[in-house]
Amino acid sequence: MPDRSKHWDDVYRRRDEVDLTWYEAHPGVSYDLVTANSRPCDAIIDIGGGTSRLVDALVKDGYEAITVLDVSQAALETAMERLGELARQVTWIAADMTVWVPTRTYDLWHDRAVFHFLTGLLDRAAYVAAMDAALAPGGTAIIATFAGDGPETCSGLPVMRYSPDRLAGTIKALAPGRFEAVEARHHMHVTPKGMGQSFQVSVFRKTSGAK
Ligand SMILES: C[S@@+](CC[C@H](N)C(=O)[O-])C[C@H]1O[C@@H](n2cnc3c(N)ncnc32)[C@H](O)[C@@H]1O
Repeated sequence: MPDRSKHWDDVYRRRDEVDLTWYEAHPGVSYDLVTANSRPCDAIIDIGGGTSRLVDALVKDGYEAITVLDVSQAALETAMERLGELARQVTWIAADMTVWVPTRTYDLWHDRAVFHFLTGLLDRAAYVAAMDAALAPGGTAIIATFAGDGPETCSGLPVMRYSPDRLAGTIKALAPGRFEAVEARHHMHVTPKGMGQSFQVSVFRKTSGAK
């Protein structure tokens, strides 16, 4: 297994949060889709949340049960420091999500730019199994990846690029009948240096059917 925690800790220690290509001062698309698909009493998990400001916006909106999981302890520490006292309202998990075993269920799963790093089938299978185990029946998964015309690498790592159909097909193949695609958007992220990065953002509903 690659040493993902070392790779990502190095990335976050070397550069300021605001210089990371994926930095967003306000995570608009994520925020819109999370708030449209949940209530403040719902349990939300941000997979690979890193130093994203999504958690800040949700805490300020009164979300009561937010978890941020990331393989980089350094990223989580930066986010916690930024939030100050408010960080105590959030559950922080330092873990590689491909080996993480959820110990509770969530109403909403959010991932911006993590799934696309999983270039191996076993890692993708582990991701979808964790998502299935973590989400309550009827729960929502929001997955943002580089689109078909997006970058081929990020942070020195190769990525897989997805259209909404390709992502839905990948999830269906790994967990047949477990997730239904309900919405997809295209989003052009503009990096801090002004470069466009093409993303697709898909919303899935977990079916209530038994395995
Ligand atoms: C491109 S960054 C996106 C961060 C955040 N989602 C955002 O939008 O600002 C990818 C993030 O995924 C995390 N990550 C990568 N692989 C991971 C894994 N297998 N398990 C958990 N986190 C992972 C990295 O540490 C990093 O924070």
